[in-house]
Amino acid sequence: MKILSKPFRALVIGSSGTIGSGFVDLLQNNPSCVGVAGIHRNSIPPINYLDPDTIQTSAIALSQDGPYQLIINTIGVLHTSQWMPEKRLEDLNPDQLTELMQINAIGPALTIRHFLPLLDPAGSLMVTLSAKVGSIEDNRLGGWYSYRSSKAALNMLIKTASIELARTKPNIALIAMHPGTVNSRLSQPFRGQQIGRPAHDACTDMLTVMSNIESKDTGNFYSYSGEKLPW
Ligand SMILES: NC(=O)c1ccc[n+]([C@@H]2O[C@H](COP(=O)([O-])OP(=O)(O)OC[C@H]3O[C@@H](n4cnc5c(N)ncnc54)[C@H](OP(=O)(O)O)[C@@H]3O)[C@@H](O)[C@H]2O)c1
Repeated sequence: MKILSKPFRALVIGSSGTIGSGFVDLLQNNPSCVGVAGIHRNSIPPINYLDPDTIQTSAIALSQDGPYQLIINTIGVLHTSQWMPEKRLEDLNPDQLTELMQINAIGPALTIRHFLPLLDPAGSLMVTLSAKVGSIEDNRLGGWYSYRSSKAALNMLIKTASIELARTKPNIALIAMHPGTVNSRLSQPFRGQQIGRPAHDACTDMLTVMSNIESKDTGNFYSYSGEKLPW
């Protein structure tokens, strides 16, 4: 049975972002969604992956609002004010690798851990946005060392957690999802405005994929088109 076949409540983590706010807008206008909440770095409660304690404190602060049948985590960085993606080995440095791992892999994994009690044990779905460039099998171009490797680590963390939950909480599905190239702050330095789709279109497609997910689909990596991607 499709997890989101009944009226559902949703939480968007990273709702200040381009894709995050796109999901909030769509869910607010979705008749099956009976309530949607959003949190981000500057919300009350705040969630900041450079301050990992905020992951648990925000989950505790929201615990009375649950259970949610859908949690979508959109937090992620490709570049920061300090870093642009590495083009070659000589660009590799420990600070950039550490920061991207912290925001793209460690933060989302701890979010799965601490927000698990907010998910409806009778049937719920947690989707974390990954990126196709995090697929090891699909890596043909190279470059973007820290972004690629942090999303690959994220994928492994999601897969591993999904295997554990299939045993302990079989009605909760964990999914990694690739949004496609979206015109956003993240893609802006890489011709995002020219080659990226509007967040509204990408989020519409991703919500269609989510609405068809069943418990047995847990531990998969899907594209916005519904295609199953190689890890
Ligand atoms: N856009 C694309 O083409 C594309 C392609 C593949 C995958 N993705 C993935 O899609 C997701 C959303 O990206 P987007 O395009 O919507 O980018 P975006 O507009 O830059 O949004 C990124 C989100 O991450 C949050 N964030 C950044 N650093 C954070 C931190 N330390 N702690 C907590 N939140 C933090 C931002 O919060 P603030 O608003 O406070 O900065 C914002 O909510 C990311 O995971 C990205 O890797 C995007």
